[in-house]
Amino acid sequence: MAVQISPSILSADFARLAEAAASVPNADWLHVDVMDNHFVPNLTLGLPVVESLLKATSTPIDCHLMIEDPDRWAPAYAEAGAGSVTIHAEAAKAPVRTLRQIRAAGARAGFALNPATPVEPYEDLLGEIDMLLLMTVEPGFGGQRFLDVVLPKLRRAGELVGRRGGQIWLQVDGGVSAETIERCAEAGADVFVAGSAVFGAEDPARAVDELRALAEKG
Ligand code: DX5
Ligand code: ZN
Repeated sequence: MAVQISPSILSADFARLAEAAASVPNADWLHVDVMDNHFVPNLTLGLPVVESLLKATSTPIDCHLMIEDPDRWAPAYAEAGAGSVTIHAEAAKAPVRTLRQIRAAGARAGFALNPATPVEPYEDLLGEIDMLLLMTVEPGFGGQRFLDVVLPKLRRAGELVGRRGGQIWLQVDGGVSAETIERCAEAGADVFVAGSAVFGAEDPARAVDELRALAEKG
């Protein structure tokens, strides 16, 4: 599976999101963190901002919903045109229905696990999922330290996903940087979210290229 880089606009200037998108033309995706101050202790943006961003960039949008009620909201992000919509295992009450609705609306269906959530209970759900997201920090904020404790789970998830013939992408999100990305790639990740490592860099596009080159080594 080819390496994909998904810069997180959480670390960009929220008053200049279109410029942030334009600053990383070499990104495969733009990662958009939707937080509701309930599922996580932070509040970011919602559907209207995603709709505006979709008009402002041709880079596909990778929506990461850190919200209490993804069953209610996820399909609308897919219908709006997000290329990928990810819901959290810890929040979804009807994940099979919601993942199917995301796919039916034409988006890739993502399923996210917090650092302490095991992957094994969800093995039977893999047929409903296009991307498995393993959080490598506790969700809520950018710029946190990468949690190495997730690496064994990442390896196990890579094996489970590998048995499905590479159709399911394996994404990591949180603390992914030039220092940590090789470890993630080596453990089996193929889609890399990076916020501060990209938008905190002087040249975001160069940071994307550098992260990609390191991941390809891993
Ligand atoms: C955190 C968000 C991440 C965040 C990552 O809850 O889901 O996408 O932007 O930021 P960095 O890469 O700075 O850890
Ligand atoms: Zn995220």
